[in-house]
Amino acid sequence: MTDPAIYPVPAEWKAKAKVDAQRYAQLHGRSLADPGSFWLEQAKRLDWIKRPEIAGDWSFDEKDFHISWFADGKLNVAANCTDRHLATRGDQTAIIWEPDEPSEEPRRYTYAELHKEVCRFANVLKAAGAKKGDRITIYMPMIPEAAFALLACARIGAVHSVVFGGFSPDALAGRIQDCDSTIVVTADEGRRGGKKVPLKANVDKAAPLCPSLEKVVVVQATGGSIDMEPGRDVWYHDMAAMVADECPAEAMGAEDPLFILYTSGSTGKPKGVLHTSGGYLLWASLTHEMIFDYRPGQIYWCAADIGWVTGHSYIVYGPLANGATTLMYEGVPNWPNASRIWEVADRHQVEILYTAPTALRALMKEGDDFVTKTSRKSLKLLGTVGEPINPEAWRWYHEVVGEGRCPIVDTWWQTETGAAMIAPLPGAIDLKPGSATKPFFGIEPQLVDADGKVLDGATEGNLVIARSWPGQMRTVWGDHQRFFQTYFTTYPGKYFTGDGCRRDEDGYYWITGRVDDVINVSGHRMGTAEVESALVLHGKVAEAAVVGFPHDIKGQGIYAYVTLNANCEASDELRNELKQWVRAEIGPIATPDAIQFAPGLPKTRSGKIMRRILRKIAEGDVTSLGDTSTLADPSVVDDLVANRVG
Ligand code: WT7
Repeated sequence: MTDPAIYPVPAEWKAKAKVDAQRYAQLHGRSLADPGSFWLEQAKRLDWIKRPEIAGDWSFDEKDFHISWFADGKLNVAANCTDRHLATRGDQTAIIWEPDEPSEEPRRYTYAELHKEVCRFANVLKAAGAKKGDRITIYMPMIPEAAFALLACARIGAVHSVVFGGFSPDALAGRIQDCDSTIVVTADEGRRGGKKVPLKANVDKAAPLCPSLEKVVVVQATGGSIDMEPGRDVWYHDMAAMVADECPAEAMGAEDPLFILYTSGSTGKPKGVLHTSGGYLLWASLTHEMIFDYRPGQIYWCAADIGWVTGHSYIVYGPLANGATTLMYEGVPNWPNASRIWEVADRHQVEILYTAPTALRALMKEGDDFVTKTSRKSLKLLGTVGEPINPEAWRWYHEVVGEGRCPIVDTWWQTETGAAMIAPLPGAIDLKPGSATKPFFGIEPQLVDADGKVLDGATEGNLVIARSWPGQMRTVWGDHQRFFQTYFTTYPGKYFTGDGCRRDEDGYYWITGRVDDVINVSGHRMGTAEVESALVLHGKVAEAAVVGFPHDIKGQGIYAYVTLNANCEASDELRNELKQWVRAEIGPIATPDAIQFAPGLPKTRSGKIMRRILRKIAEGDVTSLGDTSTLADPSVVDDLVANRVG
């Protein structure tokens, strides 16, 4: 029997669907035909202090460029995630926390307890000097206090900027400086897969580079020994003991900033993607309910880190706005062994599990026994995000993990889009392994050619979104021009995603990967320019060019071509030194998988590096390098091919 190319909506899902195929078509049609009334109606799912009467007001044209949603509405995002559930589900578990170490007891917080914790955290931030509009950097491990900190910022109207705990002191400093954070919230140490992460020590290294920084609030997570600088550093538990567990929720405009999250682009330093309050929360909450078919009482687990947008939208904001029980896991899927993820699912009777293809490929490689020795009977729906999922991994997830009974929702989206954009509704849309399927309500994807011509029918092209949606980012922090320039000038009047995409004869979308100089390493975005900048900071490096190449587990790996300064000797030691260097400059996720020393890089006569050639060589595809005659010195290619690292 051959593997089916299409997996129809199972009968029992059809029967109980919130939205079936016909209703999906109707709602999607209406969301495009009459967006004003559609979105004002959807907005009722949130708890507004002042309900909005205006929906989207936007233009992607240069002359009149602006984006706003529900501009006359007022709400508090944290109150939507806690206070409003108190009357109906105060005693229901809001957060289940599973520790890194499996022998330790999980922690649980009801909505009533979560409310108190968030209020207390908010009062601590206020006592540390935080005011509405201030930027607060959160550099935390995956512990419940991280979620409290996000919501505490939202409660008092401060703007959080979460920096992934795997980033280096330099990367952290750059992000604190860029948005002039006054407060950093961190922990003594983090734990991941049995290893300690020196978070506070990293903050100590970053702090002297950050003139705006006034206070560091330190949560005691491991009890490991750290330095505390008097006047600057305070223990969270000391301050928490002195403040009340009630704190008024600030009335915020729907368009007031909620958070900044830094993400890599094809050029320059990481961009501070800014999301605002009303539209973002609506988008996170509506997509969470519809795509995961979330029903009250279900245990839901998004196995991402809060340092990425997936953690923001699908561990914290979406589920908590919906009154869900959200599981937060401190560790990694494959520690202490490859059964852990499934053991956690069994232990907490998880019904909905959301993870990344890279994790699935790594687990798949360990063999089916690690899966089949666990029960997984509680699982009903599986999700994936972060990169295209190869059909082999999709089928393994479906057959081995889900025993054929759980639909898989493959969700395409980006930090910039706030939450999911192209994804199946499990009661409505038949699945095809490897396809994110169809656009969510309000989303109008288009495929365009290099000249911006819109392509119809079954075709392949660059993916643009032709109109605004409530969860869209509003600006790049501190650089509105860069926002416009990056996303709206390649194809004027449209939002350019940076992704390539195919649409099949059934109107299904298949993301083919980035078409810009961004690589997707284990579902995390890495700008080639960033890795290059880190490399050339090394005293022995004259020039560097970085490209992605196919990697079995990570999806894409990082391949760096390095030209050394005169009199510097290439060696394996130097290769390792450079890998460690990049790791220290940016963080472990940026570590190059391969470094090739190259006496020269392939450049055009005007000095532009021809990355197409570098990509081909890194891929090992050296027979079809295309036209190299326009190179200033075509002979460099022979050397590159001869000395390929593979
Ligand atoms: C890029 C965005 C979305 C949160 C995690 C990553 C790729 C994301 C999919 C998917 C194919 C995907 C795209 C996109 N991507 N999800 N389901 N299928 N590709 O967020 O770091 O902002 O990266 O990830 O290339 O542009 P991000």
